[in-house]
Amino acid sequence: EDDDVLEIRPPVVTVMGHVDHGKTRLLDAIRNTNVIEGEAGGITQHIGAYQIRTEVEGEERALTFIDTPGHEAFTAMRARGAKVTDIAVLVVAADDGVMPQTVEALNHAKAAEVPIVVAVNKIDKEGASPDKIRGQLTEYGLIPEEYGGDTMFVDVSARQGLNIDELLEAICLTADGALELTANPNKEARGVAIEANLDKGRGAVSTVLVQSGTLHIGDAIVAGVAHGRVRAMFDENGNAVQEAGPSRPVQVLGLSTVPRAGDTFISTEEERTARQIAEKREAADRNAMLAKRRKRVTLESFD
Ligand code: GTP
Ligand code: NA
Ligand code: MG
Repeated sequence: EDDDVLEIRPPVVTVMGHVDHGKTRLLDAIRNTNVIEGEAGGITQHIGAYQIRTEVEGEERALTFIDTPGHEAFTAMRARGAKVTDIAVLVVAADDGVMPQTVEALNHAKAAEVPIVVAVNKIDKEGASPDKIRGQLTEYGLIPEEYGGDTMFVDVSARQGLNIDELLEAICLTADGALELTANPNKEARGVAIEANLDKGRGAVSTVLVQSGTLHIGDAIVAGVAHGRVRAMFDENGNAVQEAGPSRPVQVLGLSTVPRAGDTFISTEEERTARQIAEKREAADRNAMLAKRRKRVTLESFD
């Protein structure tokens, strides 16, 4: 049946790396060079996930990016077993070199069997040594293509907007070479919560990534212990949208509470079902907490 057709979806790219090596600045540079014409002059709301469109080898491509603040969120997601990313961009500052969180990030990506593209950032800085970075990463098994390996390295400056197109091209080439990315858009939505916060006026504001199916206004959903009906959705430019398909990150209003980063969400036909699932999980969480507390009390009574 037509409804079961798998369609190509954009790659989901997570930007990782040591603190202050320029992940967020790089994403700003990517976004600014790819502001879709006609949309509010580059003014974007900060959400930790967004989609851009770019042209690679004459073909228009969409890419979804996820920022990881010091990659805590990514760690949390992995801890909850959520597989979110298709490709990792490992950002390494060319003046600072490989640092502990660089290694941690690349180990995460390797453990998840996610292909890595290396962005050697801050090449505008004095003391920047892109060759040194290549040498350092070779020791961790990331061998640059130009040395006969299979990892693409791109020297960039997020500050100067240097080589951003080359980086996007490397990401697309890596995706095309290593992955077959498809999803069925014609079913109930499933995905992962990326981040969420409680807003005074709007209530729980959750950024979710749809991984399969399509999410619509009015759909019932459950994410972790949060549940409700989608009241409104916004894209990365703050524009209201009616629906969100595979690989689309979207801000969702209407949940009862904030989900945690890495909580999976599903859409259910009935709102009641979503609520029941959430309540069951809440009860399970409560029981686990009580069991832990009882165990602690028991142990203390031995002291
Ligand atoms: P965390 O989210 O805290 O882990 O940091 P981050 O990796 O997102 O780094 P961020 O983008 O916040 O950049 C850290 C600092 O480096 C900021 O002061 C940036 O302006 C600066 N920076 C980032 N990219 C470049 C670059 O290409 N050149 C120079 N000179 N500075 C840069
Ligand atoms: Na920072
Ligand atoms: Mg950052």
